[in-house]
Amino acid sequence: MEKAVVLFLRVSIQLLALPIYLLSFLGMWEPFCKKIFFPFLLEKLTASYNRRASGHKQELFGNLQEFAGPAGELTLLEIGTGTGANFQFYPPGCKITCTDTNLNFQRGLSKSMAQNQHLQFQRFLVAPGEDLNQVADSSMDAVVCTLVLCSVQSIEGVLKEVLRVLRPGGAFYFLEHVAADPSSWTYFWQQVFYPTWKLVFDGCCLTREPWKNLEQAKFSEIKLRHIQVPLYWAPVQSHIVGYAIK
Ligand SMILES: C[S@@+](CC[C@H](N)C(=O)[O-])C[C@H]1O[C@@H](n2cnc3c(N)ncnc32)[C@H](O)[C@@H]1O
Repeated sequence: MEKAVVLFLRVSIQLLALPIYLLSFLGMWEPFCKKIFFPFLLEKLTASYNRRASGHKQELFGNLQEFAGPAGELTLLEIGTGTGANFQFYPPGCKITCTDTNLNFQRGLSKSMAQNQHLQFQRFLVAPGEDLNQVADSSMDAVVCTLVLCSVQSIEGVLKEVLRVLRPGGAFYFLEHVAADPSSWTYFWQQVFYPTWKLVFDGCCLTREPWKNLEQAKFSEIKLRHIQVPLYWAPVQSHIVGYAIK
């Protein structure tokens, strides 16, 4: 019965979003989404997300400096930087390499860089997290991913690259929205919204379980918590937060 209700609601939402499905069929939605819609949306939503998740982000990034090298310098690679939502949480002097697959966040990114002059921006790479061949082996003290593993082609591929570029003892920090508890209403709505959400929000999957990939990857230690971030958009409230050490 529940499956039938999910299917009915899913199709109803797909019908409501029919113009977007038609644009996608004509090959027009994805370029518009990547160039205009998603960068605009992310810039608008980042401040409100950061307000609601700021406690978790402060706690998460609070020990970043402990992973600095012997001279006190911290080299950090951020995968899927977007508009630079995390810059304000990084410690002063942190040397940052940013990567993303989408070049169109320039406006929001420039604004975040101007507001965070306590950081040293080293490089901006247009590269997927699954292939960071421009970054040398064992060259990073920390790697960060927030709200990215929901959209990548292969979580396993990204984690493999994270482990390659991290120095031994370096840390991978994550804050990701994930599939909710299957007995919850959030999970029900995730099932309903899943296909349309993915189309509208540039490939974002509501139902991933990245904690399983993290547990299977070859990190020596993982600190991971399941939390709820109080967002207006119920389907993305369930998160995992933590860090894993190489
Ligand atoms: C929801 S945004 C999050 C941006 C930022 N990390 C934040 O917390 O606001 C997802 C970001 O991941 C990027 N992305 C998607 N697939 C990617 C991939 N395979 N490798 C690297 N970045 C990717 C998108 O272009 C986008 O910038």
